[in-house]
Amino acid sequence: MSDNSLLSTGGFPAGDQYRGAMTQPIDPTDPTDSTEPLLEAALRTHTDYGAEKLDEADLASDPFAQFTAWLAEAAERGVYEPNAMVLGTIDPDGAPSIRTVLLRGVDERGFAFYTDYTSRKGRALQANPGVAAVFPWYTLHRQVKIFGTAQRVAPEDSEDYFAHRPRGAQLAAWSSDQSQPIASREALEQKVVDTERRFADADPVPRPERWGGFRIVPERVEFWQGRTSRLHDRLLFHREGAGWRVERLQP
Ligand SMILES: Cc1cc2nc3c(=O)[nH]c(=O)nc-3n(C[C@H](O)[C@H](O)[C@H](O)COP(=O)(O)O)c2cc1C
Repeated sequence: MSDNSLLSTGGFPAGDQYRGAMTQPIDPTDPTDSTEPLLEAALRTHTDYGAEKLDEADLASDPFAQFTAWLAEAAERGVYEPNAMVLGTIDPDGAPSIRTVLLRGVDERGFAFYTDYTSRKGRALQANPGVAAVFPWYTLHRQVKIFGTAQRVAPEDSEDYFAHRPRGAQLAAWSSDQSQPIASREALEQKVVDTERRFADADPVPRPERWGGFRIVPERVEFWQGRTSRLHDRLLFHREGAGWRVERLQP
């Protein structure tokens, strides 16, 4: 973990409801480790949002400009992993599935992230390109929701991105058939040893063909700003022809 402030609070972000409540990680195998007050705090705290607002007049003319402004602000205001989004997909059998991924590029074409094309999400997106994602910037009382379809990025973009990853991450991409079961941690580490041996003389490590990027091409993007008494601001961009139409939603 790179952020020491997280270590000092036992892994919880230092939000108001957790501050000072916990200094040691809870041991789930220890029945005497009382979690009662923490559970109470986690389940019952009621935070009233409201210091900031989102007006139509303050909105950029397209969702990409609005998103990049909010992302930069999230980084500036100390959101941990501000480029992390929770991504929802539909499996080939119709079942929904979610996970966190990191945004690695945004422009007028859409929102790009990188993964294993043979993973659960990779297979899902190839069967059903429909996708939804949320950036949960809780400490700012903001979220951005994206709805659209995913398509693979150009192979050159995947090459370029892979080439700039740390060598350890490159070897891990070769060593992990993402989302597939494995017998043990030791078996996984043995795969890494085998990969290191295989690519001992390779610099750079080549990109596995099954690893690359997807770009979410949005149809709708919602900007959500928490307000007092749950009367939040929700402004939704809809794609319309070559431009965007904005609609306000009830909270
Ligand atoms: C903060 C965070 C960032 C992550 N970023 C990525 C990512 O960019 N790409 C990726 O494939 N998995 C990423 N993961 C792991 C995924 O959440 C997930 O476990 C993995 O992709 C397998 O998902 P799947 O089985 O649904 O395909 C990240 C997890 C966390 C907690």
